[in-house]
Amino acid sequence: MKLNVKPSLVVSIPKRSYPIFVGVDIFENVDYSQFFIGNKALIVTDDHIAPILLDRVTKTLSKFADVDFLILKSGETSKNMETLSRIHSKLIENNFDRSSTLIALGGGVIGDITGFAAATYQRGINYIQLPTTLLAQVDSSVGGKTGVNHPLGKNMIGAFHQPLAVVIDISFLSTLSDRQYCSGVAEVIKYGLIKDKDFYSWLIENIKMLKCRDHSALITAVEASIQIKAAVVAADEREENIRAILNFGHTFGHAIESFQRYEGFLHGEAISVGMILAMSASGLLGQTSDADLDLLTNALQQFELPVNVPKDMTKEIFLDYMDRDKKVLDGNIRLILLKSIGHAYLESTETKPLLDKLFKTL
Ligand code: GLY
Repeated sequence: MKLNVKPSLVVSIPKRSYPIFVGVDIFENVDYSQFFIGNKALIVTDDHIAPILLDRVTKTLSKFADVDFLILKSGETSKNMETLSRIHSKLIENNFDRSSTLIALGGGVIGDITGFAAATYQRGINYIQLPTTLLAQVDSSVGGKTGVNHPLGKNMIGAFHQPLAVVIDISFLSTLSDRQYCSGVAEVIKYGLIKDKDFYSWLIENIKMLKCRDHSALITAVEASIQIKAAVVAADEREENIRAILNFGHTFGHAIESFQRYEGFLHGEAISVGMILAMSASGLLGQTSDADLDLLTNALQQFELPVNVPKDMTKEIFLDYMDRDKKVLDGNIRLILLKSIGHAYLESTETKPLLDKLFKTL
């Protein structure tokens, strides 16, 4: 075995920089000895991924540490304090200490909850992200946002805790249903919209290749996405300003997910509708055009992503959930809007009149 895979990029945060490896079938060829400080590791995964990848991952990591595992129920409804407590109990019962390492093997839910368990166990231990969904590969595994949901709002309880490394093996995406895969594509499209017009155009031109999960198109899409994410996180790790643009479409999307108790749309599906609403709001301010909105709508629909607000969701329900979003400041719902394609910004003015106008068009 050649442990010779080099990082595709590094997230540069003072004292906590870490590598991101991207490739097809690279998992076995990364030198994990550089990351383990103690000899114990716990893989946290779910009951969808475990039958497919747990043996493979355990076999490889066992060459570097004593490896145990914990299998959670898959899905957003597991991302709560009870499940977090199960991870902590497993760590305490099995004498994991501060030199131990957690391994998040799964999608966004597994990455967020495992990262939060690492952030909170004995005041913080190391963890490595092995994302298996497109959504986790391009977004949640990078940047150190960890946490769990509260019944009253998504990701309300959490911490910033950067991983030691992120290993993105594109071959892991074969574990995904078409629906989950397309949900991840919504986040990829988001990166083009917020920061890179040329990448957005490339995505529109390569919809067919991405739809058939062409490996070379996927490597381009994943690397371009995480390059944008890594640069934004390096500039503003704790979301004091610019990092907020990564939440384009998310204020609306989180409201939909919370309203549906995380059992309706997948995250990327909610973000798809959220991006339509955020671009519509940008259009009301004269910053993006009807043609921009049509192009986005068409692209999302080609990936079978929803573009309409759930029928039972009224303006009042939206505002109620949006009022509880973490981006509310001094009672003002702060929106991420587009000045133009490839240029997102945090709208700092009073947004209620704009939201009133937007919700009248629904
Ligand atoms: N998913 C948004 C962020 O990491 O900031």
